[in-house]
Amino acid sequence: MAGTIPKSLRLDVNNLMADTLGGGYGVDAGAVERWRPRAEAALKAVQSSRGQGWLGWMDLPAQPESLLDDIEAMAERIRLNYDAFVLLGIGGSALGPICVNEALRPPRYNELPKARRGGPRMYFEDNIDPERMASLRAVVDFRDACFNVITKSGGTAETMSQYLYVRDALRDNPRWRDQVVATTSGVKGLLLDIARLEGLKTFVIPEGVGGRFSELCPVGLLAAAVGGADIRALLKGAADMDARCATPELWKNPALLEAALMAVASVEMGRNIQVMMPYADSLRMVSNWFVQLWAESLGKLVNRAGAVVNAGQTPVGALGVTDQHSQLQLYSEGPFDKVITMMKVETFREETAIPRAPEDYPGDIRFLGGLTHSQLIEAERFGTEYALTRAKRMNQTIILPEVSEYTLGQLLYFFEMVTAYMGELLDVDAFNQPGVEASKIATYAKLGHPAERYAEARSALAAAPERDARYII
Ligand code: PA5
Repeated sequence: MAGTIPKSLRLDVNNLMADTLGGGYGVDAGAVERWRPRAEAALKAVQSSRGQGWLGWMDLPAQPESLLDDIEAMAERIRLNYDAFVLLGIGGSALGPICVNEALRPPRYNELPKARRGGPRMYFEDNIDPERMASLRAVVDFRDACFNVITKSGGTAETMSQYLYVRDALRDNPRWRDQVVATTSGVKGLLLDIARLEGLKTFVIPEGVGGRFSELCPVGLLAAAVGGADIRALLKGAADMDARCATPELWKNPALLEAALMAVASVEMGRNIQVMMPYADSLRMVSNWFVQLWAESLGKLVNRAGAVVNAGQTPVGALGVTDQHSQLQLYSEGPFDKVITMMKVETFREETAIPRAPEDYPGDIRFLGGLTHSQLIEAERFGTEYALTRAKRMNQTIILPEVSEYTLGQLLYFFEMVTAYMGELLDVDAFNQPGVEASKIATYAKLGHPAERYAEARSALAAAPERDARYII
């Protein structure tokens, strides 16, 4: 309709293609055709199993109204009663909430006066650095804070150590339990046991929803609603993207097309790195969220038949325009091993005009006067795209008409679907993370955890040779 902005996310892959970059540098039509049968099989495998097994997250766009009502009511209670909301979680139990809150809340939200915020200050504690832990006490009055402890497995050492720290700090308040919300499995796990023991308010992470696919369940929805977001619009965006990503026609299905192109780029063309570069501060943490999704899902030792494949395209986060001044040199002239994915926002929620400069200023500075910063940021994004394309570097752009709950829901769900299809195309299990387990076991063994399951690791650590002093200088 004339005058209205289409709110659908768009994917512009022109600059991935051989038609644009030239043969040898871009994906040619023959490669897409070679991968088409595998893409069709991927679509069939994912769509025919939707909601089942580890595809439980595909049900999240259509969650029961009663659950959404419960989340919104809890969020409203937190918004009205607390000065701070503190999320305790790590990995998939933190990155989604961080990325959605950064995208949807005003910039510098915590520093705004309470009347402008309309809700509590928000802190996302996804590390256990003691300096950071201690500093939280310096800026948050724990008596006036609500803590949302999130762990799907229920036993993650980082998160549970934070819970113990908070619980201890609150111990003088006989009503401390009112200040804690537990988000965890509804079936098993230590946090579930503790929540039952203490009588904590609990939200359930559905079975079949892995950490990095959990943003659209209570893991992310509660924090989003506390931050003032319309969670129903977020889910509507995801639902609409879900419909687009279920379409059988490759060139009309953005996630399937993107997965097929990334498979060609990485498997056939050695583009083993993907740089995620939004041109909007609000989307900066979408890169971090994507990095985990892509890395943990697709970086795998073996394929589903057990053969060693060492799969995965390395994701790298960048921010436009900031990182034009740190990374772009490499991307334009370094190895041909990357795809650069930019995100473009068509309409920013705020605008700042660049004032006219005095007449006696140099011409290059006076030229900027009268433009807006959104014009400048888009011109810089265009400049990057132009330079990369001229240097025959594969690049693509995801276009968001605006940053809103609806477009963000589309964006996150799009990436989840690309990841699911990509797992099929690479023939790896996109939903496990065995490479993370080894470090968790070694951590407990190092701390001397007495359980039998750490015995082998304890012995291995005890038998390990001393570090060679020659190599420590
Ligand atoms: O994606 C994942 O599954 C992981 O990143 C987990 O979210 C992360 O390890 C934290 O696990 P948990 O939620 O069980 O504490």
